[in-house]
Amino acid sequence: MAQYTRVSGVVGLITLQNPPVNALSAVVRQGIVDKVETALSDPKVKSVVICGQNGNFCGGADIKEFGTKMFGPPLIPMIHSIEAANKPVVAAIEGSALGGGLELALGCHYRIAHSKARLGLPEVTLGLLPAAGGSQRLPRLIGVPAALNLITTGRHVTAAEALQLGIVDQVTDHNTVDAAVKFALSVAGRSLDARRISTYPCPRPSDLDALFEEVMQKVRQSARGAIAPVACVQAVRAAATLPYTQGMEREKELMATLFTSGQARAMQYIFFAQRAVGRWRMPSGASWDTSKPRPVTKAAVIGLGTMGRGIAVALARAGLSVVAVETQEKQLLEAKQAMSSMLERGAKRRGGVPALGLISYSQSIQAAADVDLVIEAVFEDMALKIEVFKQLTAVCKPGTLLCTNTSGLDVDQLASETPNPELVVGMHFFAPAHVMNLLEVVYGPRSSPQAVATAMQLGKKMGKASVAVGNCSGFVGNRMLKLYLEQASFLLEEGATPELVDRALEEFGFPMGVFRMSDLSGLDVGWRVRKAAGLAEPGEASGPSARIRKGYRYSPIGDLVCEQGRFGQKTGRGWYQYEKPGSRVARSDPWMHSFLEQYRARHGLVARSIDHQEVLERCLYSLINEGFRILEDGIAAGPEDIDVIYVFGYGWPRHRGGPMFYASMVGLAKVLERLEHYHQAHPDVPNLQPCSLLRRLVASGSPPVHMWREVRKKLHSQL
Ligand code: NAI
Repeated sequence: MAQYTRVSGVVGLITLQNPPVNALSAVVRQGIVDKVETALSDPKVKSVVICGQNGNFCGGADIKEFGTKMFGPPLIPMIHSIEAANKPVVAAIEGSALGGGLELALGCHYRIAHSKARLGLPEVTLGLLPAAGGSQRLPRLIGVPAALNLITTGRHVTAAEALQLGIVDQVTDHNTVDAAVKFALSVAGRSLDARRISTYPCPRPSDLDALFEEVMQKVRQSARGAIAPVACVQAVRAAATLPYTQGMEREKELMATLFTSGQARAMQYIFFAQRAVGRWRMPSGASWDTSKPRPVTKAAVIGLGTMGRGIAVALARAGLSVVAVETQEKQLLEAKQAMSSMLERGAKRRGGVPALGLISYSQSIQAAADVDLVIEAVFEDMALKIEVFKQLTAVCKPGTLLCTNTSGLDVDQLASETPNPELVVGMHFFAPAHVMNLLEVVYGPRSSPQAVATAMQLGKKMGKASVAVGNCSGFVGNRMLKLYLEQASFLLEEGATPELVDRALEEFGFPMGVFRMSDLSGLDVGWRVRKAAGLAEPGEASGPSARIRKGYRYSPIGDLVCEQGRFGQKTGRGWYQYEKPGSRVARSDPWMHSFLEQYRARHGLVARSIDHQEVLERCLYSLINEGFRILEDGIAAGPEDIDVIYVFGYGWPRHRGGPMFYASMVGLAKVLERLEHYHQAHPDVPNLQPCSLLRRLVASGSPPVHMWREVRKKLHSQL
């Protein structure tokens, strides 16, 4: 809806009303059309102000309307009629003007913003472009390079930057609507000829072709197969080279292509999935409705290695007091220095003051006595973690939540060693923890819903996409990843190279292929886990049973590479070679190619030609198959949980929506058929056997992702 009042006698004030963000739903659009008409036809009204209720101008299109039949007046003519008005129209921007909200403001003759307002055209992040004239007006207003930057990245700008760029005419620290009304009074009766952005010539840099070529190249590289950023560049090019009306036609054509592409659907799916996983539910039925989180104002982090440092910084950034505990003096000093510079760098980037004073450092666990919650991040060693939890139980005040950042140990076993297992949950962060926006909150059978609610609430406060998952080896993300890594190693045995496998995965859209990623995170980590599990035993990697464990196929290639001291980037050698230890640019390594040839010869393996299709099917479908098993086991509540984990934590390309959504786009029957094919070809790899939930879904006609929970429920009730 939109409300209309007359203020100061001669200013028509139109207020958008659609909580929480005043999205441009059909009713709001109709309201704007009606109220603008009222204001323009009222002879007493000399100028108009458009604002949003509750301190928020407009968050853009109502994305619930995407993909449904369009009702109500369309946005483009609505904005045109505002721009064509013969009385000045001023946008009073408080809160945010995003997407369609900013496009509406660009149709107004003047824009006044509050100093705390944020503006942007984030359509690209939903696989779309600003198609209500945004791609045509913004370059005309602020020039091609600046418009390209905003439209292709979707980034939001502050009011100060918007003023500097020329998007807004004035910024105020006071009441924005009052300022806009005052401004509207001052411009009443003035000519509007120079205020209609669509009539502006687009400023053309002299080297237009070179500029677009350079930007297009950059965008294609970072888009990794996403088509929306490319379409955004094409739309801005139209603004720069065509008259406005033809540019609008081009904008419409490009938008139509994006709208019908699977990519926009995938990106909108993941947008809603992120919201859905925030409304967690445990198998017991516990959820926000039944469990209130405890207040957490002070937290402790135990162990300041790679993970502990990032976690402590993320907690401080969220405004918590943090006690950072590390037993090794040298490590404590290093951590303090590293954490201070992380906070300083972050504050510089975001603006604001580094939260240095919120963190206190100690070598004694006693310092955790009065905290509300502890996150343990010591070495991945069960005996050590049990010992630390015992000490914490003795030291902490009653009711303190004990969380572990283990990446794979049994959270329930750890809980069972404490007198209050209901207070124990896993909080599995991803490295680097102050940057990565994913958190798996792992509940064991004894974790209380309140403990889960508190961890979920804290994750949200830290700005992480937080997903509640059940306890199992590797939880959701690493359990699936294990099979992906396993297939990649098998492919090397059969004739592929690390380069071939990585290229296929990077073309699919991962920022890094599996081998490049392993080199970055360190090959020794997995080697240690395999040794602890009795899989990688010294000497066995070359013996006659090297390729078999417990009766099934096993690839010792990774163990052999580690035996050579090749741990990845940190040692300057891994699956690739690097200029020196710590360098980041991976180069092909002839050593690796001859090593693979010798390995195959030793094991009587004949290299065959492997194409990208096979790499993708084997690596991705085996991971997806495990995703179905995870759903079947009830470890993840739904496919959305798995997809959010993969998009936010594992670099799964957002425009492909996450592994489970991707499977539904490929077609479940096809995924099933290919898994059956590969399982037949490799009967010694049990993980390739399609899981029963996948079979059941295909038998039920491959329903869309949002219906899978129902099918699983039925499957469970029949067991
Ligand atoms: P790290 O080896 O970098 O750091 C562990 C730190 O704990 C060391 O500084 C050590 O001195 C300290 N420490 C050991 N015993 C202690 C005690 N009793 N009291 C206080 N401090 C103690 O290890 P990292 O990589 O930070 O891993 C920590 C935990 O996080 C592990 O459980 C790991 O599995 C998990 N994790 C690791 C990820 C990674 O990418 N590195 C990702 C997610 C989880």
